[in-house]
Amino acid sequence: MIKALRGMKDTLPPQNEKYLYFLEHCTQIAKRYGFEFIETPILEDTGLFKRSVGESSDIVGKEMYQFVDKGENDVCMRPEGTAGVVRSFVENKLDRAGGIHRFFYHGPMFRYERPQKGRLRQFHQFGAESFGIESYLEDVNIIMMLKKILDKFEINYTLKINSLGCATCMPPFREKLVTFLDTLEGLCDDCIRRKATNPIRVFDCKNEHCQTLLIPAPRLNDNLCESCESDFTNILKLLDKLNISYEVDPNLVRGLDYYSKTAFEFVSNDLGAQNAVAGGGRYDRLVEFLGGRPTPAIGFAIGIERILEMIEAPQKERHGYYFGALCDEAIQPLFIEADKKRATNKVTMGYGVKSLKAHLKAADKMNAQFCAVIGEDELKNAIVWVKDLQHKREETYTIE
Ligand code: HAM
Repeated sequence: MIKALRGMKDTLPPQNEKYLYFLEHCTQIAKRYGFEFIETPILEDTGLFKRSVGESSDIVGKEMYQFVDKGENDVCMRPEGTAGVVRSFVENKLDRAGGIHRFFYHGPMFRYERPQKGRLRQFHQFGAESFGIESYLEDVNIIMMLKKILDKFEINYTLKINSLGCATCMPPFREKLVTFLDTLEGLCDDCIRRKATNPIRVFDCKNEHCQTLLIPAPRLNDNLCESCESDFTNILKLLDKLNISYEVDPNLVRGLDYYSKTAFEFVSNDLGAQNAVAGGGRYDRLVEFLGGRPTPAIGFAIGIERILEMIEAPQKERHGYYFGALCDEAIQPLFIEADKKRATNKVTMGYGVKSLKAHLKAADKMNAQFCAVIGEDELKNAIVWVKDLQHKREETYTIE
């Protein structure tokens, strides 16, 4: 028997209902915040992810589904959605159009990670990206929108937030950090590599010894320039006024290299070790880095499978019709009527001739509100017998 690949899952009942329910609400909320749908390809040029997510990240370094296609192109199944949206933004010259552009998307992402609870190789994200706004208000707006989505599903979470600085304050900080790291002995091999590629990623190291060594390290949010400092303070002040609780986490550096300034994650205690429900941040330099005009931008993505672990399937209400035939001659007229009625209703039909009892059972299984049957008598009189399974009422109607 051929099985699904390790770390890849089918979406079947009852997860399928939850999945659609979640997407429906995310879409509704995103639209309320002025976001429009965007769809970008799953397969992209490998260079896109190397340049955006970054060669020093685990995602690009170890986890890419990368291959050479039949046309000798080096391609990669997207590990995340931001890079593709930015590529599209630049390719379609939206950077030149100026103004504000806000997009939301959802779909599968691929990372060759070690599968475990909450960590898949193919997983789904709902994400949003906002282009053209420098103001810190958009950072809070994005966090509010994400919070609205999670609150709708009564998810318990903690918001962790940090500022990663900008092109002015990050380079001197990086130098300061490397000078400090050079004084340490016993950093793990990964951290030694990070020191050379992207030193701030050492803060994300899971090795306890490294974390102990890093206790006296200089911290990003103590080394921000005036503008980053003032934006970060304003964000926290506004979150306070909005009664949104948060933890400033100086170790939060995120696993993707494109971030600057605000970075955040929503983590939940209701999940296991993989406790990040959603993450995001500002990436003011990425558009330019991918060949576009300098454009400030910020976004987030939610891990849908992790959300589905925590939410209940929606209450299923009976709705629509089930059509059943009690004699052979009724089958085709019913088949034709069923298709007409689908213009406005959900209609399923039992294709074989069955007893009334069997049809009622089938209608119940289909969760239909109405079971409509036609037998010889009904056919003769051009009527249909209908039972309302919700209100336990029966009636006959003309077929018309
Ligand atoms: P990320 O933190 O890598 O950010 O992923 C966002 C969310 O996707 C995570 O918080 C987690 O819930 C889910 N996730 C990540 N990896 C897996 C996995 N292997 N299995 C299941 N779920 C997973 C990004 O992807 C950025 N593009 C977010 C962003 C958008 N930043 C700015 N704009």
